[in-house]
This record gives sequence, structure tokens and C-alpha cells, in this order.
Amino acid sequence: MDSPSQHHPLKLGVLISGRGSNLIAIANNIRAGTLPGVEIAIVISNTASACGLAVTRELGLPGEVFVSKGRPRAEHDADVAACLRRHNVDLVVLAGYMRLLSPEFIQAFSNRIVNIHPSLLPAFPGLDAQHQAFDYGVKVAGCTVHFVDEHLDHGPIILQRAIPVLDTDDAESLSARILKEEHIAYSEALARIAGRQYELRGRRYVLRKA
Ligand code: GAR
Repeated sequence: MDSPSQHHPLKLGVLISGRGSNLIAIANNIRAGTLPGVEIAIVISNTASACGLAVTRELGLPGEVFVSKGRPRAEHDADVAACLRRHNVDLVVLAGYMRLLSPEFIQAFSNRIVNIHPSLLPAFPGLDAQHQAFDYGVKVAGCTVHFVDEHLDHGPIILQRAIPVLDTDDAESLSARILKEEHIAYSEALARIAGRQYELRGRRYVLRKA
């Protein structure tokens, strides 16, 4: 994968498994000009039935499917990596990609993979984070955009957005309000990465002073 350079837009390879609402939010912000310096080079799904694939077509974006079910992880990931390279992707954006990545893939794109997770990490990693948070009874919930490392929902945090949990909430209403925050958070994080005004100090993602 190319290193992001100052001279071309940050090319995203967006990986999806399902609905694709985060993909839509990012694409809409790019179209509206509110996410400058970023373009979607390719959308890749690991399931043929992902609704996000129809969305990809409607948005006029290139999309490919590499079905992961029943395939060894490293072999499937090698196909995905080759596709990302063919499209000169700078940054891999996991947007509801519900499949663990192989260590080889993560190493190949070290610090070039970002993920959005619907909780305030490190609380509630893994599946159904919003339900986990609701059932736990937290009073503040939210979402996290982070770099991906070899551990689940674990890499350096780029940004988080928090919302209160209301007494009137159920798990579904809470999930819906978190999703609204996700749609803001992901583009904000991508804008920061595209601006390249940051550095990683260990786990700490820090904006450079202008
Ligand atoms: C989002 O809520 C995202 O945070 C979550 O899947 C949903 C995908 O929605 N991802 C994870 O839980 C990853 N650990 P979308 O397909 O509409 O963007």
C-alpha cells in the first residue's frame, strides 16, 4: 500500500459486511465537500448479500465481493489485500466489517486500518456493544474510531463521541442514537487523518500543534 502523500487525496478502501450506513455517511460527506482530501477508491464486502453493496452501486462507487465464509482467514485476506493494492488504497476503513483480520493483513497495513466501534472503548468490545452497554446500565454511551492492531477493538483511539443514556431508552433507541454519532465521528476522524497533522505516541493519538 502507498504511504499517504501530501500530493493526492487519501484513497479509502471501505470494508463492509452489512447495512453500510457508515459508508453512506462518509460518501455523502465527500460529495457535499465537507470531507475534503478523501476519496473512496473501492468498497469491499465479505458477504454477497450485504445491503451496503446495493448502496455502493447507487452511489456509483466501485465494489467487489470476496466471500469469506468457509475460507481460511489468511487466504481470504490475501485476496482483499491484493484488491486494495490494485486500487492504490492508502487507508483501510472498516465500516461494519464483522470479520476478524489476519495478523498478516494487519501487519501489511500497519497503522493504515481504522475501525468504528459502537461503544466507548475499552468498555464493551466485541459483538452487540450497544446492548452490552445498555444491559450493564451505563449512564454514558457512545462510539470510538480507532486504529486497528492485532487485538480486538483495541488499537490507538482517534476520537470518541459520547451521549447520555436516557431513562426512556431501550437498547434499540440507544443504538440508533449511537449510530447518529458514528456517522459524524467517522468523517471527523477521516478528516483528521487526511490532514496528516497527527502523530502516534505509543497508544496516544495526538494532534500536532499548527
Ligand atoms: C455500526 O454500528 C458499527 O459501529 C458496528 O457495526 C455497525 C455497522 O453499521 N461495528 C462493530 O460493531 C464492529 N465491532 P453500518 O453497516 O450501517 O455502518
